Amino acid sequence: MREVALSQAEKRWKRPERVVLAVSVDEKGKADIIALGWKMRTSFDPPMVAISVGKTRYSHKLISEGKEFVLAIPGEDMSEEVLYCGTHSGRDSDKFKETGLTPLPAKFVSPPLIKECIVNLECKVVGALDTGDHTIFAGQIVNSWASEDDRKNLLSIGMETGYEFRGGGKGYRFGVVKG
Ligand SMILES: Cc1cc2nc3c(=O)[nH]c(=O)nc-3n(C[C@H](O)[C@H](O)[C@H](O)COP(=O)(O)O)c2cc1C
Repeated sequence: MREVALSQAEKRWKRPERVVLAVSVDEKGKADIIALGWKMRTSFDPPMVAISVGKTRYSHKLISEGKEFVLAIPGEDMSEEVLYCGTHSGRDSDKFKETGLTPLPAKFVSPPLIKECIVNLECKVVGALDTGDHTIFAGQIVNSWASEDDRKNLLSIGMETGYEFRGGGKGYRFGVVKG
C-alpha cells in the first residue's frame, strides 16, 4: 500500500460505473436531461434515490426550483444520446430535440419520462444537501415504469478494459458490464 493522490486512487477504484439520466423542466415546461454517474438508492420505505448534481449545471437550477425529477435508466444502446446529454447544457440546447429521444408524460411529476430508457422513476425532492461544488438531491420515488421489451444490459462509463465498449468521445468511454 502506498499513499497516492486521490486522482490516482480513483483510477483504480471508481469505474466502470452505471450511468443514468435525470430529466427536469423549467417553468414553461421545457425539459432538460443531464447524464449522471453519481446516484444511489437510499431507502426502501419510503422508496428513495439520491443524485449529486454540480452547481454549475442547468439541471441544478431546474431541480432546485421545480423540486422534481425523473430518473431514467439508459440501455447499452444509448451511448450517443447519453454523451450528448452529458456534454451539452440545456441552457442553450433542447436535448430531446437534438438526441431524438422521446418524451412521454409522467403521472405525478412535471418532467417527462424518456421512452427509449429501460426504467423511469418519478421523483419528488424531499431534501437537498450542499456537499461543496455539488448538491445531493434526495428524491422520493412516487411512481415507476419499465419498458415492455426485454433489454437488460445497462450503460456504464468505464475504463479501457473490464467491460465491453459501446461508444463514447470527449474523454468518455461507455460500455457494458454484463450479468
Ligand atoms: C458519463 C457522464 C457522467 C456524468 N456524471 C455527472 C454527475 O454525476 N453529476 C453532475 O453534476 N454532472 C455529471 N456529468 C456532467 C453533466 O452531465 C454535464 O455537465 C451536462 O452537460 C449538464 O447539463 P445541463 O447543464 O443541461 O444540466 C456527467 C457527464 C457524463 C458524460
